[in-house]
Amino acid sequence: MNNKVVLITGCSSGVGRQLSMLLAEKGYRVIATARDITNLDGLQVDMKLILDVTDQESINKAMREIITRYGRIDILINNAGYSIRSAIEEIDLEDLSDMFDVNVFGLIRMIQVVSPYMRRQNSGRIINIGSVSGKLTGYVNGGYSASKHAVEAISDAARLELQSFGIQVTVLEPGAMDTDFFKTLSKNSDQKMKNEMSPYSSFYQSDLNFRKNQGRADVRKASKDICKILEKKRLKARYKIALPLIYTVLIMLPDRVRENILVSIHRKNQSIK
Ligand SMILES: NC(=O)c1ccc[n+]([C@@H]2O[C@H](COP(=O)([O-])OP(=O)(O)OC[C@H]3O[C@@H](n4cnc5c(N)ncnc54)[C@H](OP(=O)(O)O)[C@@H]3O)[C@@H](O)[C@H]2O)c1
Repeated sequence: MNNKVVLITGCSSGVGRQLSMLLAEKGYRVIATARDITNLDGLQVDMKLILDVTDQESINKAMREIITRYGRIDILINNAGYSIRSAIEEIDLEDLSDMFDVNVFGLIRMIQVVSPYMRRQNSGRIINIGSVSGKLTGYVNGGYSASKHAVEAISDAARLELQSFGIQVTVLEPGAMDTDFFKTLSKNSDQKMKNEMSPYSSFYQSDLNFRKNQGRADVRKASKDICKILEKKRLKARYKIALPLIYTVLIMLPDRVRENILVSIHRKNQSIK
């Protein structure tokens, strides 16, 4: 039985929700958080709190409640995140900034509030949910990919800085999973991507076609894999999750070869209906 205190962001759906359930079943004292607490209905966890990673006051309030109840924090899972799609020329800077506020600054805010407690305990784990997009950038995905590349860099720096305080930091790099991620992405990007007047419409169409036919990993299975990682004594710097082999190969190829493959994938997807 593991009774560690684990704080998870973005538990209203997807990975955050699955992890909350699975870890609670294993005996962890799970603090599931969401922007809207009613979205946590039905979750059997130790504690449910409102937490918006873009709102410092809501983060501070949640931390005060956690420390009052438990006096410690063993694991932070920085899970909250979403994606927008656009060609770089057409990216709406306000939308990009909002996404960075969640995916990057939100993650940093969370590290900043848990680190003082973990340093005092001389123990703790910070699990950052990155993405394969933090390693591999395709067309019309530059904005999201930039945010997840940032998560890689922040994780690497934090690991070096926090290890002497007994704190382990890792970044997870999932491939596509069957969560609300693509619903949110469609909601915030598809209208723009259906604009046939855009000079980038062939790329947008190709991405829309690709998403229609894309295989997505079972989120429960992916979350079980994450639970296994949490149980390891010593965390590695990074882990691939639910990632088809083709992506691992693409990441390793020389730039020119990889880009030629991405261009041919784009051409093929353009013609798929
Ligand atoms: N699914 C994939 O294919 C995939 C692949 C690679 C990486 N990832 C990463 O995996 C993580 C989890 O995503 P998911 O797949 O589980 O998607 P999801 O089902 O859409 O879950 C995303 C969660 O983030 C929360 N969130 C968004 N903005 C927030 C904010 N300001 N404060 C707190 N929570 C916020 C959402 O809450 P609301 O309900 O309040 O919006 C939701 O609970 C993300 O970091 C994502 O980038 C996903």
